[in-house]
Amino acid sequence: MRLVASTRVTEPPLRPFATRRVLLGVAGGIASYKTAWLARLLSKAGAEVDVVMTRAATEFVGAVTFEALTGRPVHTGLFDPGRALDHIQLARAAHAVVVAPATADFMARAAAGQADDLLTACLLATQAPVLLVPAMNDRMWAHKQTQANAVHLRQLGYRLLDPDEGMLAAGEGSGPGRMPEPETILAHVGRLLEDRGSALAGRHVLVTAGPTREAIDPVRFLSNHSSGRMGTAIAAAAWRRGAEVTLVAGPLAVAIPVGVRHLPVESTSEMQAAIERELPASDALVMAAAPADYRPADVSASKLKKTGAARSIALTENPDILASTRSARRNGAVVVGFALETDDVVANARRKLDAKALDLIVLNDANEAGAGFAVDTNRVTIFTRGTDEPERLPLLTKHEVADAILDRVEAVLRGR
Ligand code: CTP
Repeated sequence: MRLVASTRVTEPPLRPFATRRVLLGVAGGIASYKTAWLARLLSKAGAEVDVVMTRAATEFVGAVTFEALTGRPVHTGLFDPGRALDHIQLARAAHAVVVAPATADFMARAAAGQADDLLTACLLATQAPVLLVPAMNDRMWAHKQTQANAVHLRQLGYRLLDPDEGMLAAGEGSGPGRMPEPETILAHVGRLLEDRGSALAGRHVLVTAGPTREAIDPVRFLSNHSSGRMGTAIAAAAWRRGAEVTLVAGPLAVAIPVGVRHLPVESTSEMQAAIERELPASDALVMAAAPADYRPADVSASKLKKTGAARSIALTENPDILASTRSARRNGAVVVGFALETDDVVANARRKLDAKALDLIVLNDANEAGAGFAVDTNRVTIFTRGTDEPERLPLLTKHEVADAILDRVEAVLRGR
């Protein structure tokens, strides 16, 4: 038998989590079964996860489950022999604290500043940013006391996620109270770890992704192989850095990232109109989409039938979005374009940098292995306006490329 080595690159830790310590608090609610998966996701993303459970939480999920998932001891008691200073050490070591689920009782105790168990003591002792993820029965969430506690906790500087609406436990019907999915919480913890001190915090970032589609008739279209992986990775990374992100996207093969405002479009002219509208309020535009350069000159109102003979479709050139929306750019906005080239790659990239009045252009050489449309990796060269030497980056995941691009966007923004 012949064994074929996998060519898949194992995903390195996501940047905000690598070597960071996250204190994961678990209060006693049924949603804590989902927190086990969150612990796994945090560890997989590269974080060192210290789990602190309330006594009630251990009634729902065993401490051993969290120990196995995080590979670290789980902390439960404030008064365990020899562990009296755990709360100070854990609180000091944490780069971020997340409590999921934050039950009604936990919220009440946290809002009152109590420190009667290890988790509430850690909350008072930490200086790290804190995210609370409320989850409870819908009537308990709607109760004026819980709502008042939520307002107060926000005033104290804690971040709170709103519970999802949906099926609650034990046939309790549906209503707001459900804990958001672990993947959503993971994204918010990423933002908690990353958005301090970023030049993108509070800025408006406009990103495009994916292909566009140009109708031939009601059932057919012209398009390309763009999946949207690069653009969505940039949108996710910009949101993590604290930006308000709008993603203008054609039909994507990947999910819309958490926290991002999504404006779906179909054709290149729809994408152009959306960019024209959004640009005046944007501090940066990252044009990662692959808009179709041509569209059929005539769109047939009814389905084209076979004729038994060869046929051709006349094409009209689409507007270039980057060039045609130049006058809508805000003064000082940073504009990033991409170039996918097969020949004269460097000369073509430099020409596009000038012709489209860009600050940065990210060159994909289509001849390189591991670069291109439907793969998770990319090998790019970045040209920055005003610098002679382009920067050639190694083969990276698209998440790493996204962070490399945004580091340079931040540098340009800081210089303005
Ligand atoms: N782009 C655009 N509007 C289009 C086509 C492309 O704004 N109608 C943007 C892309 O999003 C990308 C950059 O322009 O950021 C370069 O895209 P590319 O397809 O490489 O270049 P083109 O200008 O279309 O040139 P060519 O196809 O001739 O290489």
